[in-house]
Amino acid sequence: MKLKVLVGLSALLLSALSLNAQEMSDEEIAERIKPYGSVHVAGAVSADATPAGPRSGKEIYEQACTTCHAAGLLGAPTTQVAAEWQPRLDEKGFDTVWQNAINGINAMPPMGTCMNCSNDDIKAAIEYMIEGI
Ligand code: HEC
Repeated sequence: MKLKVLVGLSALLLSALSLNAQEMSDEEIAERIKPYGSVHVAGAVSADATPAGPRSGKEIYEQACTTCHAAGLLGAPTTQVAAEWQPRLDEKGFDTVWQNAINGINAMPPMGTCMNCSNDDIKAAIEYMIEGI
């Protein structure tokens, strides 16, 4: 008797689940699987993967880097503060600093979370961050 109820219940559950799956639109499914296609860092503004037209370093910076670099979050070198950038540039040279931004270093995520950025976009964003230094 008990078993019958259990079987009945799980059949009900199963049909409810499959109904649920059928009701999901393609959009909802895309939304659900989205996190697996992009690196997500809590608090960071993440850009989607749609290819974008040419952007200036400032635009890329404002879109992807400002969250951490405007205020030095997580130990990020603060934008246009020479005291925080100069030692890195002196020690490693621009190309290494650039490579580290592409590949990620410590709490700095690869590409600064800008998954639709090219390596040159990252370079332009760094050049904006060290402008005048
Ligand atoms: C989630 C926060 C975060 C975001 C977003 C972020 N950064 Fe960073 N970044 C960091 C942190 C933290 C460091 C310091 C890493 C270290 O040296 O320990 C850093 C360091 C760097 C460095 C110095 C690397 C070195 O070798 O000294 C560069 C260049 C850089 N970021 C560029 C960028 C660019 C360009 C973007 C946007 C496209 C960006 N970052 C977005 C957190 C972030």
